[in-house]
Amino acid sequence: MWGAATASYQIEGAAYEDGKGENIWDVFCREEGRIADGSSGDIACDHYHRYPEDVAIMSEIGLRAYRFSTSWGRIMPDGVGAINTKGLDFYSQLVDELLDKGVTPYITLFHWDLPQALHLKGGWMNPDIQNWFAEYAAVVSEKLGDRVKHWFTQNEPQVFIGHGYCTGAKAPGLRYGLSDVLQAIHHSLLAHGRSVQAIRAGCPDGLVGAAPTGTVAFPENETEADIAAARKATFYVPGRGPNNPGGTNSWSVSQEPTWNISWYTDPLFLGNYPEQGLMAFGSDVPKYTEEDMQLIHQPLDFCGINLYSGWQVRAADNAFGWEEVPMPQGSPLTAFKWPVTPEILYWGPRFFSERYGKPIYITENGMSSNDWVDAEGRIGDYARIDFVRAYLRQYKRAAEEGYPLDGYFLWSLLDNFEWPEGYRERFGIVHVDYTTQKRTLKESAKWYGEICQSNGESL
Ligand code: NOJ
Repeated sequence: MWGAATASYQIEGAAYEDGKGENIWDVFCREEGRIADGSSGDIACDHYHRYPEDVAIMSEIGLRAYRFSTSWGRIMPDGVGAINTKGLDFYSQLVDELLDKGVTPYITLFHWDLPQALHLKGGWMNPDIQNWFAEYAAVVSEKLGDRVKHWFTQNEPQVFIGHGYCTGAKAPGLRYGLSDVLQAIHHSLLAHGRSVQAIRAGCPDGLVGAAPTGTVAFPENETEADIAAARKATFYVPGRGPNNPGGTNSWSVSQEPTWNISWYTDPLFLGNYPEQGLMAFGSDVPKYTEEDMQLIHQPLDFCGINLYSGWQVRAADNAFGWEEVPMPQGSPLTAFKWPVTPEILYWGPRFFSERYGKPIYITENGMSSNDWVDAEGRIGDYARIDFVRAYLRQYKRAAEEGYPLDGYFLWSLLDNFEWPEGYRERFGIVHVDYTTQKRTLKESAKWYGEICQSNGESL
């Protein structure tokens, strides 16, 4: 399944309309100095009002699928209890419009815009959040489950907890200690489990997964030793202090203990926290029960993963069994200065499907570039075409070798609000002029449409 992805706060706008409740990003953006260009998602791409045009664009491009998120507070202004019918109807109409144009909808229930009312009750620190999230998941899946058959529970807990509760770089901007942060992660995992149960009840023939992220390590050489080293490094959980190997680029293993993969995905797919992570986090690990782990470990239909950038390793005779191979000077970087590492779209799906035994969805992949409309009215984002082609060729290699791949979602359909970067990073295959709200297909949109229509054959 080939498509593109977006998220509610990044594109919808209409932040204070039709009964929508306030969320943590509404509040965060109003705080001085939080967003690089001082902007907010108040208007964003005005998708709330322009969704028919946006769906028509998807159809014009030739997308087969569209991954979007529902805004919890637009549907339930207080996070629980009363339902805002206008908000829920917006998503219902969007779904109808998509189906009408032959675009399959994929819903993400939570892409970071937590209702402010729930934040004031402690947000992810409050153990009740599993009940709140289950209630919301029930409302959405009961309303849309007759037409929407693909569901993702949460997008990137690494970021909404890691950066929301640990580094403070993203809403709600908290800087808690490790034990609190691990507690919040545990609550998010429980909430995931409860929401899977709610979706299964609301949409019995639905398929369910999650959309975590992470950075994949890939081998310097395709030797058994380097491959084993890359696998180990990919799932490594950095602890604190001397056991933390550090890293040379922002995507390699870092000093940030919440920036890892397996602490989030092993509980989902294997029903336990990774042994090495338990050792790394030691007494900071929250108390939990066997029942907790069973609840978290709900049967899932696929393994979604957002992959952008990775790092190279080789086998080493040290305490870790691997060491990072620094990128050569002057290696390609995106506008965001993220390393271009197409290999991760082969090694990521391979490592994930081997470890978890599930079909893979790349729920996000793409790049920001400094795009503008040229004198002829075109947007020649050839670097993006080259980036996506290189990544997809690696993904294709994984398919050819028999790894189970279900789909790919390019981030993003539209240029949009890139969180603390504001509107400075353009990730879209469709250009948005934020002054006029004019949409223009970039060259990459035309190129990607052919990939979607040919099921990757034209790669
Ligand atoms: C991942 C996030 O899910 C999305 O919201 C963000 O815009 C992209 N990465 C690019 O940073």
